[in-house]
Amino acid sequence: MDITIKARAKINLALDVVSKREDGYHNLRMVMQTVYLHDQIVLKKAHKYPLKFVCSTPYLPVDERNLVYRAALYLKDTFKLPGGLFISLKKHIPISAGLAGGSSDCAATLSGINRMYNLGLSLNDLMEIGVKFGSDVPFCLLGGTAFAEGKGEILTPLPPHPPVSVIIGKPPVSISTSAVFKAFDSARHAKGPNIDCIISGIKKKDINGIASGFGNVLEDVSIHICPDIVKLKNIYMGSGAIGALMSGSGPSVFAYFSDQKHAWRAMKNVSLLMPHIRQFLTGTFNNTKRGFSF
Ligand code: C5P
Repeated sequence: MDITIKARAKINLALDVVSKREDGYHNLRMVMQTVYLHDQIVLKKAHKYPLKFVCSTPYLPVDERNLVYRAALYLKDTFKLPGGLFISLKKHIPISAGLAGGSSDCAATLSGINRMYNLGLSLNDLMEIGVKFGSDVPFCLLGGTAFAEGKGEILTPLPPHPPVSVIIGKPPVSISTSAVFKAFDSARHAKGPNIDCIISGIKKKDINGIASGFGNVLEDVSIHICPDIVKLKNIYMGSGAIGALMSGSGPSVFAYFSDQKHAWRAMKNVSLLMPHIRQFLTGTFNNTKRGFSF
């Protein structure tokens, strides 16, 4: 039986840094949201080789440097899985973009292998394994809308986010998350989020309320590396966005629109003024069941 899984991207409606930890990471407070934009992963049992991984993006490594390969190898070794496994990954989510593309691919691989081999791992078990591969992997396994603390792995599910049109714009720059956090420690900090406002907006299904709490303290650091971030935000806001913010450590910027018509107009403005920006029209994704569905 083959398994096909959608590995969805995430955006950060809020990102605040609370403190630096002894392990070099930072304690964070975030509101995270799954969007429809996704990669596709196919798993097949194989006979000719123990583990083979192929990817549609030629310059991505397909060995231990890739979280998908590492996660599959970990489960194969830990649970002594019989036979071989073939994994193919079709990328749509931009890479090193602040959208957790790699973490989501890893989460989908863990979840798919659990299902394929009937390992019986619960969502919590998978999340405990997932955090070994990246701080965003537990959220990618959970999906939907959540408040995140610690490194990003302590998750409190929130009620479903109301549907909204979302544009994601990605400047042609890859930003290293660890470099941004390092620069953050000695930098001037952008305005923080109003997390209470976002959570109360989600509960009341009030898009304007949610957007009025948007904030990401890493934004100023990443704008320094990639000034396109602020230009993009300004064009989206000038085109009628309800709110716009950098996601994660950037450089992707997302913007909320009241409807698709406004969103299309804003996309057109960006493609005229900043033709080098890749854009995606998507929406907030909420499944009532948490975790991946097959
Ligand atoms: O966990 P992940 O591998 O995605 O993190 C990438 C880098 O981002 C880490 O090596 C660390 O430098 C930084 N980071 C951090 N605090 C977090 C999450 C990530 O400092 N909570």
